[in-house]
Amino acid sequence: MPLQIIRNDITKVECDAIVNAANTGLLGGGGVDGAIHRAAGPELLEECRLLHGCKTGQAKITGGYKLPCKYVIHTPGPIWQGGNSGEEELLRSCYVNSLKLAKKYDCHTVAFPLISAGVYGYPKKQAVKIAYDTISSFIAEEAPDMLVYMVIFDKDIVNISEKLYSELTSFIDDKYVDEMKSDNSLFGERNVPIIEEPRANYEIPTPETADECEPPKRRKFSLFGKGNVPLQKAAIAEQSAAAGINVQLETMLKSIDESFSEMLLRKIDEKNMKDSECYKKANIDRKLFSKIRSDRLYKPSKNTVIAFAIALELPLDETKEMLRKAGFALSHSSKSDIIIEYFIINGIYDIFTINETLFCFDQKLLGA
Ligand code: APR
Repeated sequence: MPLQIIRNDITKVECDAIVNAANTGLLGGGGVDGAIHRAAGPELLEECRLLHGCKTGQAKITGGYKLPCKYVIHTPGPIWQGGNSGEEELLRSCYVNSLKLAKKYDCHTVAFPLISAGVYGYPKKQAVKIAYDTISSFIAEEAPDMLVYMVIFDKDIVNISEKLYSELTSFIDDKYVDEMKSDNSLFGERNVPIIEEPRANYEIPTPETADECEPPKRRKFSLFGKGNVPLQKAAIAEQSAAAGINVQLETMLKSIDESFSEMLLRKIDEKNMKDSECYKKANIDRKLFSKIRSDRLYKPSKNTVIAFAIALELPLDETKEMLRKAGFALSHSSKSDIIIEYFIINGIYDIFTINETLFCFDQKLLGA
């Protein structure tokens, strides 16, 4: 994921370059500037003196000294004056000029604080959005192999509306309750096994052994042979006969025939999207996408599947289908899954809003 939002102290982030929210004098200060100088040691200030300051929106580079990074890129952000003095333009240029310098110095990993969102008073939500949008478009257009961390230091930076927060808490509570109540039995009425959709190594109990008072004996029945390679039709038919199970072979084979990556490529075509448009929107880097594209049985992470489902704006059932093809399911024992489900049900596919919410509920972010 080329752009990741993390919670940390930027002086602890190990990467090629960290960015300092400096002032135009470049001689240190409070906030993140002070923290970086303290952690780097006095040599940083000595080198900064040689730079003779820096204009707002511009960027200059020094060594990292005692910090766990090779370089520090110093950029003075704009002081917030109400929004009509070109603040947004200047803030964007802080990110762009810092990234240009990082690229020039062949940095592959860069960490940013939220420039101007502290002492300089830039409204935090706007500062986060500008950072997110500016960095992701720079990566997409000019540095596809760069990994950028947006380092959020204090929790209050990102908050969501009261309404959304209360709606989500009740939605999560309902789902958790449902999970407890729902009967996980594998059996429908009259103790007949429920075979909704096939799964690898799905253990289907045999009806004759499904005894009222005893847990039924389970017999292994798998759609996949050694090394998790899907079995061919004949082998499945033989297996199911041997297991004495009347399996809707066609449904099983239909779903086994299309893998996760095939479904992904099919949905990209159906949505008339370009590959690059889809993986950029999903915040997936180009290399990972080409691996998925070239291997029909590629096994992605759950996070990656969900990021694609959001980018493709899939409805809930198709999201679940894509997850199932990759061997995953949305679980009601996971708050982040329930939050994702909430947004998909409500047709909200803005990955930034979803990440803000996941962040507020202390959940792992998409693309993180
Ligand atoms: N790691 C990551 N982020 C941090 C850290 C840290 N150790 N310390 C502070 N931050 C965050 C703040 O929470 C804020 O969100 O960095 C963001 C920027 O805050 P400031 O450091 O106050 O920077 P800024 O608002 O750009 O003001 C710059 O403040 O420190 C002085 O010398 C600096 O005059 C300059 C002005």
